[in-house]
Amino acid sequence: MKIAILTGAGISAESGLGTFRDKGGLWSQYDLEEVATPEGFARNPALVHDFYNARRANCMAASPNDAHLALAELAAGPHEVTLITQNVDDLHERAGSQDVIHMHGALMRALCASCDHRWDAPAAMAPADPCPACTAPATRPDVVWFGEVPYHMDRIMTAVAGADLFVAIGTSAEVYPAAGLVELAMGETLEINLEPSMRARAFDRQIGGPATETVPAWVNTLRI
Ligand code: OAD
Repeated sequence: MKIAILTGAGISAESGLGTFRDKGGLWSQYDLEEVATPEGFARNPALVHDFYNARRANCMAASPNDAHLALAELAAGPHEVTLITQNVDDLHERAGSQDVIHMHGALMRALCASCDHRWDAPAAMAPADPCPACTAPATRPDVVWFGEVPYHMDRIMTAVAGADLFVAIGTSAEVYPAAGLVELAMGETLEINLEPSMRARAFDRQIGGPATETVPAWVNTLRI
């Protein structure tokens, strides 16, 4: 069976990484316009780097949880799994998943805003850091900000449309184009979330509860 999986911040919540829109989430502590837009970066690059440096430090201190591990295990089985994530953390990779499609980029990568060169991010970045390729002081995190185009959309849309099963895990379904992927799915659709998202009715089926319990249990059903 072809399975396309979309994950969001909820899958990493029990690893201690904050979600965005839950009570006390990142967007209640930080102004999205200031830290997650190209305009915010142009106004105050040091503030934006500080925000992502803190996210990177949290991520490095965190470990993959049972939900990440179960998805890595699923991909090792007989099914053809495409794992798409909105998360910029690397917990899927550290759980053993390969070829994870990071549609919103990756905290652990740096991007030169001047020449588009990409490299492994150091633990902390600053606005004056030179690009290793062109030396311009134009270093930014290789993450997709609001107003920018998510990465790998062609590959993602093909995988979702061609899947027998599309599963969204731990996402509020408030950010497009990720939130609209369920509309492209031709096969069965399943939402696994702490509680039904605002697009829950677009899915054929829902499983509610914390990802560390629901995801391993769901993966187990696919072994039968
Ligand atoms: P959100 O914070 O919007 O949503 C997280 C979802 O996970 C919510 O629906 C929660 O109910 C659910 N959740 C919380 N804890 C959970 C748990 N333990 N188990 C299962 N579900 C749980 O995060 P995303 O939907 O990922 O983009 O946000 C999408 C994008 O918005 C992010 O990639 C980021 C953000 O702004 C950019 O920065 C461009």
